[in-house]
Amino acid sequence: MPANAQRLNSPADEREVFLQDMLTALSGRPKQTSPKYFYDEVGSRLFDRICELPEYYPTRTERRILEQHGAEMARVLGPRVMLVEPGSGSSTKVPLILKHLREPAAYVPMEICLEHMVANLGPLEAAFPQLEILPVAADFTRPFSLPTPRLRARRRVVFFPGSTLGNFTPEEARQLLRTLRRVVGHGGAVLLGVDLQKPSEVLIPAYDDAQGVTAAFNLNLLERANRELGADFNIGNFSHRAVWNADAGRIEMHLVSRCPQAVHLAGETFHFATDEAIITEYSHKYTQPALQSLAAETGFALHRTWEDEKGWFSLQYWVAVD
Ligand code: AVJ
Repeated sequence: MPANAQRLNSPADEREVFLQDMLTALSGRPKQTSPKYFYDEVGSRLFDRICELPEYYPTRTERRILEQHGAEMARVLGPRVMLVEPGSGSSTKVPLILKHLREPAAYVPMEICLEHMVANLGPLEAAFPQLEILPVAADFTRPFSLPTPRLRARRRVVFFPGSTLGNFTPEEARQLLRTLRRVVGHGGAVLLGVDLQKPSEVLIPAYDDAQGVTAAFNLNLLERANRELGADFNIGNFSHRAVWNADAGRIEMHLVSRCPQAVHLAGETFHFATDEAIITEYSHKYTQPALQSLAAETGFALHRTWEDEKGWFSLQYWVAVD
């Protein structure tokens, strides 16, 4: 772990939290897990592969918007920005903003898995040798504080690309945005990448690709529970499913039990009926009016948006309202 990295939760705590969350998830009706547990080492690598899939349009579309409008975004953000990225993964998008920023004060990548994050910071350090990088290992869904950069920041901006916001229910999204509002403080802002509503003929294949990478990503959650928690999921007894829930405006990923079966975890037994699902992820797809309300409800004003030609994906710059 590098000297300037900050770890807010210890690995022992992480395992215990994962265990308790899995026990609660499997006791629920319906059974439902948090998508944050997809991202162990294996899961993070599978997600990187998803981003390269022909069917998975969000990463490519967002990247194109950032390439086209990054310079303008940087002008709107202004000089001496401290850029914070929750769920930074491999930090592959932030250079498209950073390279245009005037005297950035610092870059703060945040991940639950410190190892994956730090292992991927090399290229960024090489590309921006002057930039102070202050990695933070934390679950950004819980309140967090930021490190103090050497340079005094004029504005804190949370860069939250990749449609990660889509993972949260409307109530959770409001809570998270209110947390981010507190973190950025007076004069702060957020730059959000959000996926927009579009035909299910485009959405379903994006979450159920021909090569089965998304299926492997989903099933890895069960393998991870076996590896880390000693559960006894029989992976072959579950299948991946992607569903478009039109009423809620979201894609749902499920793991469906192929037969009646029992799974054991920490001395407890969990029964599955045939076709019973574990809901493993929501991926909400927004509309512009819904985003406008969300900003207003969480202490922000929608200042600017940038979209692709098809209107599939949107970058949104919201500024803090006092
Ligand atoms: C990382 C939450 C944006 O919802 O599209 C990709 C995760 N799940 N394929 C998404 C994901 C299945 C992804 N986010």
